[in-house]
Parts: sequence; structure tokens; C-alpha cells
Amino acid sequence: MKTFTVLASLLTLLPFTLAAPSSLVNTTLSSRAPSASKKVIIQMFDWNWDSIAAECTNFIGPAGYGYIQVSPPQEHIQGSQWWTDYQPVSYNIISKRGNRSQFSNMVNTCRNAGVLIIADTIWNHMAGIEGGTGVGGSSFTQYNYPGIYGSQDFHRCGKRAGNDIGNYNDREDVQTCELVNLADLATGSDYVRSRLAQYGNDLISLGVEGLRLDAAKHIPTSDINNILSRLSKKVYITQEVIYGGGEPIQPSEYVNNGDVQEYTTALKDAFLGNSVSGLQNLEGRGWVSGGQANVFVANHDTERNGASLTMNSPNNAYVLAHVFSLAHPYGTQTVLSSYQGFTNHDQGPPNNGYGTCSGTGGSGGWYCQHRFNAIAGMVGFRNNAGSTGITNWSSPRGDRVAFGRGNTGFVVINSAADSWSGTFATGLADGVYCNVITGKPNGSGSCTGASITISGGAFSATIGALDAIAIHTGALGTGTSTGGGGSVVTPPTSGSVAVTFEENATTTLGQNIFLLGSISELGSWAPGSAVALSSASYPVWKITVNIPAGVTFQYKFIRKESSGAVTWESDPNRQATTGTSSTQTLSSSWR
Ligand SMILES: *[C@@H]1O[C@H](CO)[C@@H](O)[C@H](O)[C@H]1NC(C)=O
Ligand SMILES: *[C@@H]1O[C@H](CO)[C@@H](O)[C@H](O)[C@H]1NC(C)=O
Ligand SMILES: *[C@@H]1O[C@H](CO)[C@@H](O)[C@H](O)[C@H]1NC(C)=O
Ligand SMILES: *[C@@H]1O[C@H](CO)[C@@H](O)[C@H](O)[C@H]1NC(C)=O
Ligand SMILES: *[C@@H]1O[C@H](CO)[C@@H](O)[C@H](O)[C@H]1NC(C)=O
Repeated sequence: MKTFTVLASLLTLLPFTLAAPSSLVNTTLSSRAPSASKKVIIQMFDWNWDSIAAECTNFIGPAGYGYIQVSPPQEHIQGSQWWTDYQPVSYNIISKRGNRSQFSNMVNTCRNAGVLIIADTIWNHMAGIEGGTGVGGSSFTQYNYPGIYGSQDFHRCGKRAGNDIGNYNDREDVQTCELVNLADLATGSDYVRSRLAQYGNDLISLGVEGLRLDAAKHIPTSDINNILSRLSKKVYITQEVIYGGGEPIQPSEYVNNGDVQEYTTALKDAFLGNSVSGLQNLEGRGWVSGGQANVFVANHDTERNGASLTMNSPNNAYVLAHVFSLAHPYGTQTVLSSYQGFTNHDQGPPNNGYGTCSGTGGSGGWYCQHRFNAIAGMVGFRNNAGSTGITNWSSPRGDRVAFGRGNTGFVVINSAADSWSGTFATGLADGVYCNVITGKPNGSGSCTGASITISGGAFSATIGALDAIAIHTGALGTGTSTGGGGSVVTPPTSGSVAVTFEENATTTLGQNIFLLGSISELGSWAPGSAVALSSASYPVWKITVNIPAGVTFQYKFIRKESSGAVTWESDPNRQATTGTSSTQTLSSSWR
């Protein structure tokens, strides 16, 4: 069955495979954005199966999320690091996250709560270590997985010692050499394709409704198409195809298989560069169209490699970017739900992967971003907006945008350091709407947050610094306060100190005060990442930043002119250490 003839025929096929134009791809297999009315996906990174099942019932189903992308369910190498999950050693459903019956129970429990499961699936490779025993007891060596694959089922590109990928400008190098030493499956071979499809069909038999194809860029799109054609059912497909400037492999080659992942870095650049106003039209930028894109503010890779915003980003950018992305019609949205400690690149999850949340945030080291009021509130906004396009766009400055989704909803995002007072024309019917950034409808006619009254199709409001308002016809209600915006939507964290910086600084019109420091929470000394202070208590400028407990850091204030010119405080750097209490105040005067 697995003979060298297979390898020989693969080599014969190779030139054809590499040149295959996308027109040969079987478009009838396309699996597009989840088609249900609940379209938002949560990536429950490293949550184990029992904890996901509980969270589906407790929160995720009722909140209106449609899908959960779970970490890889197949057997993998041993180790505490998160990336061990991405080194398969067999296709038995046993992992650090649970066994087959626990996986099956999760799929069924979530389905009963109205939530479907997407499995992170590794078709590109097996392990990257010499050998050992997997978490389920299967013995293996890097190119031999007894009963599954032998040496002939792997590429050895032979381009350099060790066979690692060395040139991303060479398609064949990227798709036949090894990604960080991971044994590269010969996906051109009929046997390998059938074995991968067998694994996919096993997941489908357990009730899985979607596959995220890890490292899809490293597999020719025609190979993926062939494997998908062998599946017993059409499921949602999202592919990891990370485009690098100038590279020959394009995300657009993969759209006939399903969605591809786009735009994360652009979102980071816009929110840290005060250019959110440039994100109005996301079509026609050389990215795949919105109907073919799967987008996220961050995923498990980008929160570790700097390619995206993270929980540590300054200026509330992480939460505000979620508000923007969930309000904008482009793409199918995935919200990452992850854990503290990602700044230590390899660190695995707390509590053996048993995820826990509390109220509108996390507990026990888990962030539970999917519960943040602003994020969960925007899921309802997005479901309610459906396919309605953007209307009533306004953007008086780069860091301020407001727009509607026709007669379904309206959002105002102020990523500036000072508050924004304005009158906004909407397509909404008159009425009292709940600001879903701060609250939610609570019984007949009431709202747990602030509310906004639409009169004559418009409303006037003051949106605080680094804050947002979002209202929609699916969430009406009179709130605890009216008119103005909500409270600041800074992500809740635990194990950290809310440090309030107060700087007494006299300024003239157009000047603003920012904070910079030695830690990532304070922009790592990069003026472009400085944290803006609020002038609400002028001449004392203030901002509260969450910083891990027990950290010593240096910092300084800077003054920015409207022209962008920067003046630093005089030396030496200021220094402070966070304590163990939950809040701390550091007061100073400009020098
Ligand atoms: C595409 O796939 C469908 C479903 O498997 C199949 O019925 C059809 O014949 C395929 N078309 C081509 C051109 O291969
Ligand atoms: C799966 O794990 C659960 C919980 O540890 C255990 O009760 C059950 O026996 C296991 N099932 C199998 C088939 O190993
Ligand atoms: C706002 O959008 C609605 C459509 O939803 C449109 O009818 C209305 O004219 C727009 N208002 C302004 C001031 O552009
Ligand atoms: C929600 O409604 C209940 C019952 O009407 C009330 O007791 C509770 O205080 C309300 N909660 C908020 C936050 O308004
Ligand atoms: C701010 O500094 C000025 C000038 O040093 C001083 O007069 C004023 O009292 C200070 N204000 C506060 C609130 O500390």
C-alpha cells in the first residue's frame, strides 16, 4: 500500500501540482462563511473539552456565538508547552484536552446550546522531534508512525541540510521543505490524502462542523481541494495562509477551498497609528473579498509574535479593535479567548487547560475575552446587522469613526485621548437603545448600562477617551444613565495592578501628554506606541494601565504637538514597582 511507487508517482505529478491554476479547483466544494444567523467564532485556545462544554451551556450559547474553534484534538507529542498540540503523532482523539468520549460530549453539549465545533486540523505535517511516545501512548519516530505513515509518506526537499524551509520566495521550498523541522507530509500522494480525509471524516462523524487548516500555505491548494473532495460532508473551512510581501503563494489561491485568514496586521497598525479612519472600505486592497475572509484581532500565534494587538496593547486598542471589527461587515469574525503569560512564548495553559471565567472576564489565569461586555455585546450587534452594509460613515479625525449598519445598528469608536462630543445621523428608528458596550437588555424595557435615545433618526452624545458606543435594534432598553457614552472598556485582568498615572502638566491647545516606559504595557519606549493620558482633570493628566504585579519598570512622560513633534521630560527616567494590591497611584509633575 505504501510503496516507493507512490513516491515516484508523486514526483511525476509535482510540476503539474505546483502549476495548477485555481480554475482547476473544484468550486462546488466551497465552504464559505458559516451560514447560520449566528456567525461569530470563538477560538477557545487550549481550553480542554470538559471546560468548553460547561462554558457553552453557561455563556457561549446564550450570548449568541455560533461556533467554537477548538485546539487540535488528535494525539500529539508530550510536553507542557502549547505548541506540542501542533505536532501530531497519531489521529486518535486523545490530547492534553481530553479523550474521545470527552471530545464527543463537548461537541454534543455545545450543539445543544446552539454552538457548533470547528477543529484545528493539521494536514501539513507530523512531529518535529526525533521520536518518543505521544500523550495517548503511541510510539513514533519523526518519519515513522506505526500503522499510519512510513518514511515514503514524507517530503525531503533536499534543498539544504536538515530540509528546513529556507526561501519563502520559492513556492516549492515553502511547500515541500520542513516548517521548523516538522516532518512534511507528501500531500500529493493518494495514500496520504486518503489518510488525512479519513481523519477529517472521523471528526465529522463526531459532529464537527468545520475545520481550520493549520499551515495551509505549506500545502498546495490543489492537494487540499483533493482531500476536501473525499470528505463525507461539506463543512466550514478556514485556512491559515499568511501572506508575506512579494511571496509567490497568494491567499487568493485558496479561496475555492473555503475562507482564508486576512487583515490582522492592518487592524493593529490602524489602532496604534491613529488611522482607524482608513479602514472604511476593506475590499479591493489586494486582500480576498470579505465573503472569503476569516478575520481576527489576534490569534494564538499573533499574540505571541507581535503581528497583532494583544491584551497588553496600550490605549485600550485591543478592545476597541474588537468593537470595530465586529461592527464592520468584512469577513467572518473569530474572537480569541486565551490565557495570561503569553509573553513567555512557550507557556502552556493554567489549570491543566480547564478554563474558568467570572462575570464579564476571566479567572484563574484565563482572560475569557469572549465574555468582555464590549465583545459579547458586539456579537449581538453583528448577528443583528446580518448582511446590511455600512451607512452614515463619519470620521472627523484619524482616531475617531462612527458608522451605521442601515436601520439595524450604529457604532461610535473614539480611540483618542480626549472625549468626543457629537451629533450622529443614523438610519435607526426613534427609540431608547441599550449601549451594548457597557450593558445589555435586562427584562422588559431596561438596560444594565447607559442608554441612547434616538430622536428624528439622530442622537447627541459625548464619548469618553478610548471608549465606544454601540446600539442596535436587537437590544432596546432604558439604562441606568442616559445620553452620554459608556464607561471605559479597558479589559478586565487578574494578577495585575491597575496603576493610575497622574501627571500635572500645563499645556497649550493642540498639545497632549503621553506616557512611555520600559515594559510593553507602556509602549516599550517606542513613541508611536505611547499611552495617551486624559485631560479630563486638567492640569492633572491621568491614565490607568494594567501592569502585572511585582514588576519594576522605568517610565517618562512626553508631550506631543498636533504637528506630531515630541518633547520628552528631562532625565533621569522615573522608576516604580507594582505591589500586590489591585490598584496603585503614581503622581508627578512635568519636568
Ligand atoms: C466536485 O465535487 C462534487 C462533490 O464531491 C462532485 O460531485 C463533482 O463531480 C466535482 N466536480 C469536478 C469537476 O470534479
Ligand atoms: C475519558 O476520560 C474520562 C475522564 O477522565 C474517563 O472517565 C473515561 O473513562 C475516559 N474514557 C476513555 C474511553 O478512556
Ligand atoms: C443615514 O443612513 C440612512 C440609511 O440607513 C439614510 O437613509 C440617511 O439618509 C443617512 N443620513 C445621512 C445624514 O447621511
Ligand atoms: C435587572 O433586572 C432585575 C429585575 O428587574 C433587577 O433586580 C436588577 O437590579 C437589574 N439589573 C441591573 C444591572 O439593572
Ligand atoms: C499643578 O502644578 C502647578 C504648578 O506647579 C501648581 O500650582 C498646582 O497646584 C498643581 N496642581 C495640582 C492639582 O497638583
